Amino acid sequence: MKYRNFGRLGWNVAEVGFGAWAVGGGWGSQSEEDSIVALHRALDLGCNFIDTAQAYGDGRSERIIAQVLRERRGDQRVYVATKIPPAPGSWPPSPYDDIEARYSAEYLRQRLERSLRELRTECIDLLQLHTWTRAWNRNPVALATLRQFKQEGKVLAIGVSTPEHDQDSVLDLMRGGWVDSVQLIYNIFEQEPQAELLPAAVEHQVAIIVRVAMDEGALTGKLTPQTVFAEGDFRRRYFAGDRLQRTIDRVEAIRRTVGAREPDLASAALKFALKPAAVSTVISGIRNTRQAQMNLAVSAQAPMSDALERDLRAHNWRRAFWFAGK
Ligand SMILES: NC(=O)c1ccc[n+]([C@@H]2O[C@H](COP(=O)([O-])OP(=O)(O)OC[C@H]3O[C@@H](n4cnc5c(N)ncnc54)[C@H](OP(=O)(O)O)[C@@H]3O)[C@@H](O)[C@H]2O)c1
Repeated sequence: MKYRNFGRLGWNVAEVGFGAWAVGGGWGSQSEEDSIVALHRALDLGCNFIDTAQAYGDGRSERIIAQVLRERRGDQRVYVATKIPPAPGSWPPSPYDDIEARYSAEYLRQRLERSLRELRTECIDLLQLHTWTRAWNRNPVALATLRQFKQEGKVLAIGVSTPEHDQDSVLDLMRGGWVDSVQLIYNIFEQEPQAELLPAAVEHQVAIIVRVAMDEGALTGKLTPQTVFAEGDFRRRYFAGDRLQRTIDRVEAIRRTVGAREPDLASAALKFALKPAAVSTVISGIRNTRQAQMNLAVSAQAPMSDALERDLRAHNWRRAFWFAGK
């Protein structure tokens, strides 16, 4: 496993991290046993960065992580990042939302205490706000509250996760020194962060956590027109209507571009996300041991060539995320 610097914090984090959404739920049935074994395997292989959220199975993902870390009795330094969702309301937040109504200081404190309990720790490595709207940039008081938690020694670092449809909305927070890290979508389909977010991260020493590098599995090339997502798998909605076929057609075009230059499409997807120097870690979603092994092994391979990365730029696809958008 190769390690990278995490922004201004001086942490040395695995460049391929563990995305723990699916182990919490929302992706069809997921056995706790598979999740636990997969997480142990990833940590055995040198992964030391895990991303989770309170929303992943209503705390289930956080509890599984706590259990695994307890079983390992602190044999290695593992960084755990979690997220606080906004108080109930529209998702993503509406431009009319009042930040005090969605992320009040009292609400954030209750939520902080909840994650400390679920993760069975006295200090959270990285506490992120799960989503954002640019409507809050003029008065980002929620981040002032998180700063306070830092001063109290209850968190080491604070960050924000971008709203899918408006990732650039967090730029002002980076420039204003409000966040230690930003979690964003960067993959062969979504290359827009190259324009401003990645350069801003370098300029302001903000760590970049890349999520959804495989476009929820699509960029591994395994989806077919016959693919049916299980009951309870959010991808029924994400790939609804003709979005599945349109995605498959585009992935086939990517397959032709990659050719024999990478061992498989999953490796190509992860390596594309790892390519920018601004990226600290790519949190690949993992739900079993095989995926842990495959995804972490990518770090030992040669990086993607500059020529292939350039060729893949042609596959940038602007679309709406999460709304089964076109
Ligand atoms: N708003 C936010 O802040 C937000 C949103 C989304 C994600 N995240 C974070 O980012 C992490 C990564 O994103 P993600 O999990 O949504 O998507 P992803 O990494 O693009 O895709 C992960 C899924 O792809 C499949 N997969 C993984 N490795 C594979 C391999 N080697 N070969 C074939 N299939 C493979 C698995 O599902 P199947 O086996 O079922 O196909 C897995 O659940 C999440 O776990 C979460 O921590 C945050």
